[in-house]
Amino acid sequence: MRETSSHVLIAICITVSAWTSWALAEESRDVVLMDYCSVNNFEGLPVGLGFTKEVVHVEYAKLGAFKAIHCCLRGYRSIEWYKGNIPYPWKGDDSHFILYPESKNQTIYTKNLRQSDAGSYSCLALNDTTTLNEEIALKVIDEDTPYTGEPLLTHQPRTQFAPLGVPTRLFCEAYVGHTHLPDVRNSVLWSRSFCNVTIPTDGRIYQHKITRENNQIVGSYLVIKDVRAEDYGEYKCEVSNSIDQLIVITASVLPEEVPIRGMQVGSWRKVVLLVALVMICTLSLGAFYIRCWLPVTLFFRDRFSPLEENDGRDCDALVCYHEMDASLAIGVIIPTLESRYCYKCASLELSQITRNWSLEIGPKSKTARRVIVIVSPAAVQGSTWNDATLRTVFCQLASLHLPLNRVIVVALKDLPISLTAPKLASSRHVYEEGAGIGRVKTLRWCDKDETTGFVKFWCRLRLCLPPIRPGARKTQQSVALIVQMKSGAQTTTRSRESLEVLV
Ligand SMILES: *[C@@H]1O[C@H](CO)[C@@H](O)[C@H](O)[C@H]1NC(C)=O
Ligand SMILES: *[C@@H]1O[C@H](CO)[C@@H](O)[C@H](O)[C@H]1NC(C)=O
Ligand SMILES: *[C@@H]1O[C@H](CO)[C@@H](O)[C@H](O)[C@H]1NC(C)=O
Repeated sequence: MRETSSHVLIAICITVSAWTSWALAEESRDVVLMDYCSVNNFEGLPVGLGFTKEVVHVEYAKLGAFKAIHCCLRGYRSIEWYKGNIPYPWKGDDSHFILYPESKNQTIYTKNLRQSDAGSYSCLALNDTTTLNEEIALKVIDEDTPYTGEPLLTHQPRTQFAPLGVPTRLFCEAYVGHTHLPDVRNSVLWSRSFCNVTIPTDGRIYQHKITRENNQIVGSYLVIKDVRAEDYGEYKCEVSNSIDQLIVITASVLPEEVPIRGMQVGSWRKVVLLVALVMICTLSLGAFYIRCWLPVTLFFRDRFSPLEENDGRDCDALVCYHEMDASLAIGVIIPTLESRYCYKCASLELSQITRNWSLEIGPKSKTARRVIVIVSPAAVQGSTWNDATLRTVFCQLASLHLPLNRVIVVALKDLPISLTAPKLASSRHVYEEGAGIGRVKTLRWCDKDETTGFVKFWCRLRLCLPPIRPGARKTQQSVALIVQMKSGAQTTTRSRESLEVLV
């Protein structure tokens, strides 16, 4: 009787203690679940939606074990959980995880992990304007014996960019497996790389160890309360679960992030853009120059180069021509120069195109700033349009002894190539003979039929003549014209009168 009662008592005791220990375990589990997101949070987080601690992206757990997955957040309106594309709540085939409501949906858990629970989970947090999303891969360790393999990294510390004076931290965590084995020495240790100093557990820089899920997952925070220059550098986290199983992970604390790649890409783009722009500008300028350099040069010459006035000369150009070219000289060249371009011209008809120019042109050339000589095949008087004949023409010009570029030859036919080709320095004889050629500007006359050639000819001719300020001569000219017209009117009236008298 006594024995049986004592047996019953013992049985009751065992039951009670078992229940108590189970209840305690449940309670501590609850505490762990509740606590996870309320401890070890970042400091000084900005307001708004954001994670409050590092998200563990890979989770390991043994088959049949208790397992929880967390997304610790603040400032959210709701958190939605997904396994793959399937939103919570899941059917048993997909996952046995359930929400832990006391943690405001930041945690999902299962008391009995199954193989089918493995997979990719994600939490989607929303406020009214922003969404955040993180993925967590769950791997199930399907072994009967306690896990004795190498530590499995669950959170890889990432390089932190921190300016001076701000707090920063590195977090390293790994699944190490069961702790009840005799040769197990679970440890996590932060230290500075290349230096045997282990980081202390308190102070300005300290490390703070954590464990979760029955000490199977161990981790450590390396906290720097305010970053100083000497803190920048590499740190290493060593995790070991036995004498010969050690993993070492390194991460650095660096000053402000320098987006090297981004900057390079950006600056490359800028450089390419700039080069393209410069090329386009150069090309269009080149095209513009090729098309318009004559008018542009003329425009600037007329505006800015010094005038040749008050030099005691009466006119800008003395136009010399042979009888044969009179119509061109008097009918086209002189009127165009005078009325359209406002030059003062004088004309001189030459009796001989190849002789005695020093006598014919010489005296009059002193009164003009330029001498224009019209040379045509007709004017060379039966002589052929060849080297020898033209050479005499240029020798005549040389005999005038006028300064460089004072004489302009307007040729009505292309000059022989041998005459226009640049002279070789060695052929001194030729140079002397054709001395006039080098000192004379030769222009090929272009008729109105060739529009571009015609325009170019006039531009070239005007460039050879002295500069004229636009507008300066217009008024003079128009006054002269009015005077001329008035006198013309007078003469006509007079002639009419005389006619009437005659009648
Ligand atoms: C949502 O979160 C973002 C990011 O933290 C924040 O900038 C924004 O102000 C938040 N919106 C609301 C309505 O709280
Ligand atoms: C938690 O999730 C449940 C189910 O998805 C949802 O009804 C509830 O509003 C959520 N609560 C919070 C605080 O997000
Ligand atoms: C670190 O310690 C190891 C042995 O404990 C030693 O061999 C090594 O030279 C030390 N390194 C430095 C930088 O002190």
